[in-house]
Amino acid sequence: MTRFERLRLDGVTRQFAGVDALSELSLEIQRGEFIALLGPSGCGKSTALNCLAGLLPLTAGSIWRDDVRLDTLPPERRGFGMVFQNYALFPHMSVQKNVSFGLQMHGVTRAETRRRTTDAIRLVHLEEHATKLPGQLSGGQQQRVAIARAVVIEPSLVLMDEPLSNLDAKLRLEMRTEIRRLHQSLGLTTVYVTHDQEEALSLSDRLVVLRDGRVQQIGTPEEVHTRPANRHVADFMGYRNLLPGRASSGASLLLEPSGVRVKGTPVGSVNDGDPVVAAIRPEDIRLDGDREATVDVVEYQGREFTVEARTDDGLMLHLRTGTRLSVGDKVRVGFPPDRLLLFPAEAS
Ligand SMILES: Nc1ncnc2c1ncn2[C@@H]1O[C@H](COP(=O)(O)OP(=O)(O)OP(=O)(O)O)[C@@H](O)[C@H]1O
Ligand SMILES: [Mg+2]
Repeated sequence: MTRFERLRLDGVTRQFAGVDALSELSLEIQRGEFIALLGPSGCGKSTALNCLAGLLPLTAGSIWRDDVRLDTLPPERRGFGMVFQNYALFPHMSVQKNVSFGLQMHGVTRAETRRRTTDAIRLVHLEEHATKLPGQLSGGQQQRVAIARAVVIEPSLVLMDEPLSNLDAKLRLEMRTEIRRLHQSLGLTTVYVTHDQEEALSLSDRLVVLRDGRVQQIGTPEEVHTRPANRHVADFMGYRNLLPGRASSGASLLLEPSGVRVKGTPVGSVNDGDPVVAAIRPEDIRLDGDREATVDVVEYQGREFTVEARTDDGLMLHLRTGTRLSVGDKVRVGFPPDRLLLFPAEAS
């Protein structure tokens, strides 16, 4: 394994037909970190991963492993393991052959190949399936073969592009835990692409949130969850209530069109009179506040209900509650000021 202390992306840019798919991505990854690249479809996640892997040349910028420049090296000389969304297994080769293929390519001896292949297959709990072909395995089992194949070469970095998106909900949760377990027990450094915020939050040490090819925020799950850098990140991270208004006297906001004043927490520079967007999660709206709202829609979600309610002055709110409510019920909503984030409306 090629050890490294840090991997550095410096202004990595990739264009297709003159248009930026990825713009000036700068990021330093420490050995052992689990990094998630998160963002909506088309934001540049796979482009970033493929640039790192060497499957796409950069239009500008550079990539460094400690002091070694990597972006000029072909993929096979970077020493990375890759797990693709569609597994990309060899259909005519057994599980064993699929896993050992990379080792043979790297010129590892036959005895060593056998030992490491057996270990990798055991790691992903596929001992009983070692001689089967991919077509004889379930989706989750195939995914585990793909993971075994990526880690068997003891890569300095593992790259995963939406590895769980083809799996059903239960298997996705199981594999998520499995991936985190492997990351820890093998001491891997992992870059993981997903558009699923929950997956990114639960797996990663740090998240990189992308939009339109540009980094919106880099931070720990907690930072991104509680202090999204702008309204787009907030929107993407589950702040379902985005309320337009105008800033007035510091941390308050006049909601539009009602003109009702509420207090919030400004994020970024917000000046009096500026148009702002107030963002709050459904679960953060209190139901013992002082403004009346009428329940419009109720959805049962297991433990809780998501509720749409309308205030007398016409604000439509998404709420969450453990109490069974019915359409037409009156509730009294309130916004805790530390949970109501005020973003400049114009900032991109
Ligand atoms: N080979 C290509 N030729 C032209 N444009 C491309 C190519 N690959 C990607 N793009 C464009 O670059 C942008 C980013 O694409 P990318 O595949 O990185 O998105 P993504 O974040 O991985 O999306 P998804 O979640 O849908 O996989 C998109 O607008 C896409 O259309
Ligand atoms: Mg993609």
